[in-house]
Amino acid sequence: MISAKDVPANARILTVSVDGELVELRDGETIYEVTNSCSREVPTLCYDPRLEAFGSCRLCVVEVEGIKNPVASCTTKATDGMVIKTRTTAIEQYRKTLLEMVASENRNIDVDPLSGYASQELGNLMERYEARTDRFCGKKSGETNQDDKNPFILRDYDNCISCYRCVRVCAEQEGDHAINIINRGFETQISTEFGNDLRDSQCTFCGQCVQTCPTGALSDKKALRAKDLPEEIKKTRSVCPYCGVGCTVDILSKGDRVVGIQPAMDGPANEGALCIKGQYAFDFVHHPDRLQKPLIRQKDGNFKESDWDEALDAAAKGFKKVLEENGRRSVYGIASGRAPHEAAYTMQKFIRSNFGTNYIDNCSRS
Ligand code: SF4
Ligand code: SF4
Ligand code: FES
Repeated sequence: MISAKDVPANARILTVSVDGELVELRDGETIYEVTNSCSREVPTLCYDPRLEAFGSCRLCVVEVEGIKNPVASCTTKATDGMVIKTRTTAIEQYRKTLLEMVASENRNIDVDPLSGYASQELGNLMERYEARTDRFCGKKSGETNQDDKNPFILRDYDNCISCYRCVRVCAEQEGDHAINIINRGFETQISTEFGNDLRDSQCTFCGQCVQTCPTGALSDKKALRAKDLPEEIKKTRSVCPYCGVGCTVDILSKGDRVVGIQPAMDGPANEGALCIKGQYAFDFVHHPDRLQKPLIRQKDGNFKESDWDEALDAAAKGFKKVLEENGRRSVYGIASGRAPHEAAYTMQKFIRSNFGTNYIDNCSRS
């Protein structure tokens, strides 16, 4: 534990007290960031560490000595000497009441975990606080748009709590501004321009709104196709196979079937972002047309199944014939941007040495 009085005045470390513990503070940090750094579990709903703090749900409230009302920790900067309490009885009761108000609008708290990365957040908090869903009754917000014809995103606004994480991630992370907020109060809606289907909007189907939604109001239509499969969901950390960026993903599987993809929020190259291919284009894995063995085209144009030795001999013969008949500039090599350095080096050697051409590139430049 750091003690402020032990530090020379000219090298003064900023500190705050969190539940009686003295904690070092970096200039500009919010109270939430400080409490998070010392493992206090301050609940949040509208917070996503990748986005500008918004301060709408008020679940992250804490007590600060000298301030009469609880303050939202995600939007309040910590200052030197602050005395913060994160779990007083009054604060916990306040949070529970807020949760019960939020949940009172929702048709369903218990959503399938295949819905999205953050989809369990509200349900988990309701459980932690033993909050009731029927304490407050009245009008429900949102309007279901399940008939949006896109194949990727289910828009079930009966479960929306107006945290606006979807709108903010679309604007701040994706730069698309495909969705926005219309109306106020119970009439608040998340909408596209002119209320069109997502397919007719600026949406690129990156799936980020789905993965940040804390209630499953936006959910992964493709992954939910597997919700009735009896097996447990297994997550396997991997790297997206498409381009050279190398986004980290968690592959969701049930039994021996890949059922969905979730972005890794701690992926160094993507920090939770994916493009439409990395997010949704995984059906090829189990597609019946997927090539499992090499095929060699016959003289009549049809393909014959073969083994790798026969296929590589046929490819070598074909290369030789093209070279003899059309010269070295008739051969062009293109390597995968996902190939490691060694494989890329071997590929350019293969093209340059064997065919005498510099026509070699990789797909990351296209
Ligand atoms: S899928 Fe991506 S682009 Fe489309 S609304 Fe969601 S965040 Fe915006
Ligand atoms: S759809 Fe989800 S992320 Fe968007 S405002 Fe509603 S609850 Fe929040
Ligand atoms: S998490 Fe701070 S106000 Fe919502």
